[in-house]
Amino acid sequence: MTLDEIGLEYGTDKSSKGHGYLRHYERVLAPLRNDEFTLIEIGGLNGASLQMWQEFLPSATIVCADINPNVKQFEGGRVRVEIGDSGAPEFLAQLAARYPSPRVILDDGSHRWDHQRIAFLKLSRCSRPAASTSSRTCTRATSRGSPAPTTCRSWSS
Ligand SMILES: C[S@@+](CC[C@H](N)C(=O)[O-])C[C@H]1O[C@@H](n2cnc3c(N)ncnc32)[C@H](O)[C@@H]1O
Repeated sequence: MTLDEIGLEYGTDKSSKGHGYLRHYERVLAPLRNDEFTLIEIGGLNGASLQMWQEFLPSATIVCADINPNVKQFEGGRVRVEIGDSGAPEFLAQLAARYPSPRVILDDGSHRWDHQRIAFLKLSRCSRPAASTSSRTCTRATSRGSPAPTTCRSWSS
């Protein structure tokens, strides 16, 4: 199944029924599909995207950071949920200590640029970014030992 098909099944608004970002996410993430790595998603809401990632990435650990304590209920399987504010350096430091080498960081939380900036700076400090994309939703794929970012493109429609 494609990422969009899985997203439609779980009802995330990033699917082709909503913002239509999933075809872009898939282009970046398909080569990593069967790898074992940690993906951090800021913003879990009703768990739809967390379920989607768990199905699309069968060997990955999915870490969700969300300010809303209710999101904790979506923890289970390979999904972990950490409650905190992605704009708060102390929370980000705790997250970085617990998950030191995330390969993918996806920010779908507050949609504030200052939050996105500090989250990527704090969470990717142990990995060198291989590629980055930004728009209302930002994703940064990281890989140790790779050169500094070579691409930066907008996913805004
Ligand atoms: C757009 S929803 C996420 C949707 C989800 N990624 C999906 O595709 O199904 C935004 C989420 O970000 C969370 N959020 C908003 N501000 C935040 C912040 N400062 N830190 C962490 N999470 C935040 C909200 O509680 C909400 O669950």
